Order: sequence, then C-alpha cells, then structure tokens
Amino acid sequence: MHVLHIVGARPNFMKAAPVIRALGGRTIKQTLVHTGQHYDQNMSDVFFSQLELPAPDVNLGVGSGSHAQQTAEIMRRFEPVAHEYRPDVVLVYGDVNSTVAAALVCSKLLLPIGHVEAGLRSFDRTMPEEINRIVTDRLADLLFTPSEDGDENLLKEGVPATKIYRVGNVMIDSLIRLLPSAMRCSRNGFPDRYALVTLHRPSNVDDTASLKSILDALCEVNESLSVVFPVHPRTRQRIADLGTKVERLHLLEPTPYIEFLALQQRAAVVITDSGGIQEETTYLGVPCLTLRSNTERPVTVTVGTNVLVGQDRDKLISELGNVLEGKAKKGTVPPLWDGHAGERIAEIIAQL
Ligand code: UD1
Repeated sequence: MHVLHIVGARPNFMKAAPVIRALGGRTIKQTLVHTGQHYDQNMSDVFFSQLELPAPDVNLGVGSGSHAQQTAEIMRRFEPVAHEYRPDVVLVYGDVNSTVAAALVCSKLLLPIGHVEAGLRSFDRTMPEEINRIVTDRLADLLFTPSEDGDENLLKEGVPATKIYRVGNVMIDSLIRLLPSAMRCSRNGFPDRYALVTLHRPSNVDDTASLKSILDALCEVNESLSVVFPVHPRTRQRIADLGTKVERLHLLEPTPYIEFLALQQRAAVVITDSGGIQEETTYLGVPCLTLRSNTERPVTVTVGTNVLVGQDRDKLISELGNVLEGKAKKGTVPPLWDGHAGERIAEIIAQL
C-alpha cells in the first residue's frame, strides 16, 4: 500500500501531520508532496519542523497567483508526479486551492482520493474555499468527516453512505499533541489580558471599506482590551495600501504553530475570520468572535464557544462587553475531537 499526501497551505500542515504519524506505525509506504502554495519560512517551514513533518519528497514550487493560475499551475506540475509515483490512495486536506487542484488531477488519472475534513459547507459560494470543498467532495472516494453535520451535508448531496467515514477532527489531534509545548512558551512581551486577532479572508481584507471598518473596530476594542494581531502577508499588504493607523495594536509577523496555540490558549477572547481557529478555540474553551456571517463549522456555534458577529461593529463591541464582564459564551467539545482522528483514518486505510 502506497499513500501519497498532498499539502500546500498553512492550514493543511496540522491536518496532515497526525495522519502521516499514524500511518507511519504501519507497513505503508508514504510520499509527501508540497505544492508550494505557501512558501514563506513562517507560513510553511516552521510548521514542518514544529509538527515534525518529514521533509516533502517533492515540492512543486507553485507560489502565489490568481485562483485560476494557482490551481492550474498545481495541476500542471502535479500530474507528472502522480504518474511517476502511482500511489494506491491520494490524501488531500481541507479546502485550499492545493486540495481541489490535486483532486482534479487524481480523478482524471483514476487514482482513489481520500478527502480529510470532508462535508463542511458554509452554503456561501462567494467563498473560494466553498467551491474547493464542493468539488473535492464530489470527486473523492473516501470522505473523512470531522462532525455529524459533515455526514448530513454529504448524504443530502447524494454521496453514498458507504463512502463516508466520521473520524473526528485531525486538527485537534495536533493541538492535543503540542499543547504541552505551547504551555511552556514565554509570556514575556505580551499583555496579561488581550484579544487575539487574525484576519485574512478576501471578503474582509480585499474590500477597502470592510477592512477599514474592521480596523476601526479593532482600534476601539484596543481601548478596553489590548489587541494582539499576527498579520497574514496578504493582510499586511492591504493594511499598508489602505494607510490606516494601526500602530497602537500589537502587530506580529505570522506566528509559528506552537506559539500561536499558546496565544490562543491564554487569550481572553479570539477575534478571527479563520475556519480552523473557530475549532481550536472551541476545543480550548476560549470565547471566539468570528468576523463572518456564516460558518462551514456550525458545531463550533451550536456546542462550542463561537459567536458569528459578521461585519457588525455593534455586535462585536457588545459581545466583547460580555467577555469583559465574564459573561462570554461557554461551550463543550464535540464528539470525536479527542486526539485520535488520525489513527482512525490510518485504520480505515490499512483495511482497504
Ligand atoms: C489560503 C487559503 C485559505 C486559508 C489560508 C491560510 C485558498 C483558496 N485559500 O489563503 O483557505 O485559510 O491560505 O493562510 O487556498 N503569501 C506570502 N507568502 C506565502 C503565502 C502567501 O506572502 O507563503 C501572500 C501572497 O501575496 C499571496 C497571498 O499571500 O498572493 C495570498 O496567498 P494564497 O495562497 O493565494 O491564499 P491565502 O490568503 O494564504
């Protein structure tokens, strides 16, 4: 049995690591392909070392581009690699352009595809990731879901139940494994009490009016609770273009995985438009205010600590007031977010 994993962007790395680790304990050959969608040291290399991922066997070096350019370039460069390695199964992760590009290539080469983190739906097709999720799930042969809503979405779309495996949340596997290291990170240089912010969604940062209104709201938040803000490269560029004064906020470079876990765990509240961070805060029991009007991870709202505030400044400020008064939303951890999702995937693959 030969499994080829394909990863490309920051949120893929913590999802692939536990699966690679779990398969490593079995007599299964593994190949790791990095598309190079994310290429900066602090967006990629540091994640490989902290997550103890093996060095990629192949790096396609695609870099940035428009969605079509990036997707097409990954397909063009991955096809000969898939031909050469001829794996028995290809595992793709999450919902980034690397995920859908690899799935398209493999489906044409008749290579079986396993999609890790299948079935999530925001029902918002203006989000590029939603298109990536729908297409990847349509093409996948094994659909590994993190939660019940994933199964339900797939069944409604006509995916046969025999292809769906509810395995739990692989990203939480990485969190559980590395939380003890995060707890040892220094607190020096950070405020005692703070709001942790991340922002990179095109709908929030590419539109000048939206970005300006979010930054103004964050400056207002900063009056009552210090804002710590590791800035994604695309967001840094957009803030520079806009020229809004943000020097009172505590801006950081994109933060390595373990340090970012520590920042989340110690935050009074997290304000984000990320997908994965909604899940991590739910696991950690930290209040999360999501700057989106929908989520593909509804379980974080129904059972977790997540509140959708969209782009509504008043809602953000009033939810922040709840946090400051100790009345933030409490939550529980969804079933199967237990640190063993990677092992469940390995077991299913070993039985193929
Ligand atoms: C991608 C994913 C998104 C995920 C995010 C996490 C898609 C469609 N989007 O968005 O789902 O939440 O990763 O970070 O795949 N850049 C750098 N260095 C890098 C990578 C990117 O400077 O290492 C800059 C480039 O200017 C690039 C921009 O960031 O054009 C955007 O990168 P891209 O990979 O296109 O999408 P992300 O916004 O990172």
